[in-house]
Amino acid sequence: MTSKIVNINLSSCSYDIFINDSYFDFSALQDLLCNRKIAIISNDIVAPLYLDDLKSTLSDYKDSIFSHILADGEHNKNLQGWNSILDFLAENNFNRSDLLISLGGGVICDMTGFAAASWMRGIDFMQVPTSLLAQVDASVGGKTGINHKMGKNLIGAFHQPQAVIINTSTLKTLPLREYKSGLGETVKYGLINKPQFTTWLTNNATVINNQETSVLTQLIAKCCQYKAEIVQQDEKESGIRALLNLGHTFAHAIETYTQYTTYTHGEAVAIGMVMAAELSDLINISDSHNLRKELEKHLQDFHLKIMLPKAIDANKLVELMRLDKKVINNRHRLILMKSIGNAFIQKDVCEKDILQSIKNCQQ
Ligand SMILES: NC(=O)c1ccc[n+]([C@@H]2O[C@H](COP(=O)([O-])OP(=O)(O)OC[C@H]3O[C@@H](n4cnc5c(N)ncnc54)[C@H](O)[C@@H]3O)[C@@H](O)[C@H]2O)c1
Ligand SMILES: [Zn+2]
Repeated sequence: MTSKIVNINLSSCSYDIFINDSYFDFSALQDLLCNRKIAIISNDIVAPLYLDDLKSTLSDYKDSIFSHILADGEHNKNLQGWNSILDFLAENNFNRSDLLISLGGGVICDMTGFAAASWMRGIDFMQVPTSLLAQVDASVGGKTGINHKMGKNLIGAFHQPQAVIINTSTLKTLPLREYKSGLGETVKYGLINKPQFTTWLTNNATVINNQETSVLTQLIAKCCQYKAEIVQQDEKESGIRALLNLGHTFAHAIETYTQYTTYTHGEAVAIGMVMAAELSDLINISDSHNLRKELEKHLQDFHLKIMLPKAIDANKLVELMRLDKKVINNRHRLILMKSIGNAFIQKDVCEKDILQSIKNCQQ
């Protein structure tokens, strides 16, 4: 068995991420579980697989446990999904001292977190992420929210969990496409400020692609540690935390345009990062002027898609990008790269260049 603990230490709170390769490790969390109602929020794909396991781990509290199962899917990460959690909490008389636990991928983590942030102005919650993407990113750092029909994650709040409990054995049932999607988000950390992580990923690509248990704990712990380092410096995204959005302004537009039916989040992020690299080359910001090719090679190590079909209207994507939270006074603030491991915030990016970089990544 391998296990690791990563701590997140913020001015407002501190919590641990428990990473374990065989069970849901709540052993250090007993004080946070007793004498309160606990609502497990999951979906109709993950609950049949892991809800019983999780409940038996929490069997000491079995009389206090409730569960609420939502329909699977990013297209259900909306006001209706969130509202159904609130209705459930109301029907079962949940109050300020009670606890929510998410059990699922990033969609469930984000929705449960946002329900916890809003119920009675904020109650405690814990994340039990079961997809790779949620284990390396979505469950950590306190960003919670839902999509609005005009765009992704437009409604939300910062609300930190009390703990994150990762059992990497849950990845055994994750569809391969979703595993690869998680690798899209994983690659991001190397590109932002950890070039040594990019090298490590390349050197370990075979074992990572084979999902070998021994490498998964390390991979997830590294990502959580990198995210912790950034979130600790800038919890509410007034500066450096924006770097975690590398590729995301493009990705959110792609996801909204295709109505969450064509690309997973991690796939869209991978393509978005290629567009950011292309734009960095195009406006002569990258050191090598060949950054896009370097990144494409890296993404291909993990068999990730790197191009967008021509049928997608690039002008529409730019329009959608205007709605992104990172656009201030119609000026695009994008995360670009000087090189792999050196991302930065570029203000005032011109729309003509954005449009061209999208078109250059279509085939
Ligand atoms: N809050 C943040 O900081 C943050 C960061 C990154 C991404 N996100 C959000 O996360 C979401 C994407 O997360 P995701 O990729 O996990 O998507 P997801 O939650 O839709 O999960 C992907 C699919 O895998 C299924 N699944 C999850 N775990 C499984 C398992 N162990 N076995 C079998 N099936 C399993 C899900 O039910 C779903 O069908 C997006 O909405 C994105 O905006 C949030
Ligand atoms: Zn993301």
